[in-house]
Amino acid sequence: MMKRIGIYCSGGDAPGMNAAIRGVVRTALYHHIEVYGIRYGYNGMIDNDIFKMDAHMVSGIIHRGGTILKSSRSDRFLTEPGRRTAAINLKAHQIDGLVALGGDGTFKGALALKEQSSIPIIGIPATIDGDLFGTDYTIGYDTAINTVIDAVDKIRDTADALDRLFFIEVMGRDAGLIALRTGIATGAEAILVPETKTDIHALAALLRRGWKREKSSKIIIVAEGDEAGGAFQIAAQVKKEFDRYDTRVTVLGHIQRGGNPTCMDRYNASELGFAAVNALMTGRKWEMSGMVNGSVSFTPFEKAVKYKGLLDQSVLDMIHILSS
Ligand code: F6P
Repeated sequence: MMKRIGIYCSGGDAPGMNAAIRGVVRTALYHHIEVYGIRYGYNGMIDNDIFKMDAHMVSGIIHRGGTILKSSRSDRFLTEPGRRTAAINLKAHQIDGLVALGGDGTFKGALALKEQSSIPIIGIPATIDGDLFGTDYTIGYDTAINTVIDAVDKIRDTADALDRLFFIEVMGRDAGLIALRTGIATGAEAILVPETKTDIHALAALLRRGWKREKSSKIIIVAEGDEAGGAFQIAAQVKKEFDRYDTRVTVLGHIQRGGNPTCMDRYNASELGFAAVNALMTGRKWEMSGMVNGSVSFTPFEKAVKYKGLLDQSVLDMIHILSS
């Protein structure tokens, strides 16, 4: 019998986290389960920053980006004494289930906590990067890519006016999913991602061909984690090989993590919050409740954190044809 659950967010925030928190709190209270919010993720567990939540606390938050629970990247939780203190604090609050919102770092943390405490944990995928295995969907990705296309469309207006080449850097330290989706959706000439090797000569050749065909503006989308460097570095390397374009670089940065979540993020986050509580009630543990083909689906944390490099090559091939 679940009597008290805790909920926390960890790592980079993602628009839609608040909708998920609301889903968890309202579902748990409906089933007469008490809910404790843990502020600042794993740091809050260590610092005992834990408070009882009521239904009113999650009123008027479904449309807001960020997270009312705050988040952190916790170095202290990487240490055994840190995790021991966290486990002691959870026990003192008689928490018998946890809901963790975040990405791979959050779920690795959940697995590490398992060594100190037997409290069942259910994860909700929440990262704008979209890089988790076992789910087609992560909270925040949809909002982030819509923010990106809005920004790139604006940049294209000025790029067109002055016949310029723009390198636009989007987030994605380890994954190119934001770059891939937004590159296709904005009609970019090329998309550079960490999962594939960037060929500067080929890129310069592509631009040269476009120049001959009198293509005016050009947009190259660069994922921040691309192994050839960030957008500034890549732009400089390309310029050395082909310098006919007047070139500019824009780094979109943290604008991609904020803003009101889209309808998709609000809806799915609500459903995943609801599903996470039901999962704990039915005895599931140490799994991520994600979505596959639009339905809730569970993946053990050990597998969920193994996303690396699963980009669909056919999509990468498609861009060459669509931008030709
Ligand atoms: O949330 C994931 C992510 O946005 C990565 O794409 C990015 O590299 C990182 O977070 C930035 O994190 P921080 O805000 O801690 O600098």
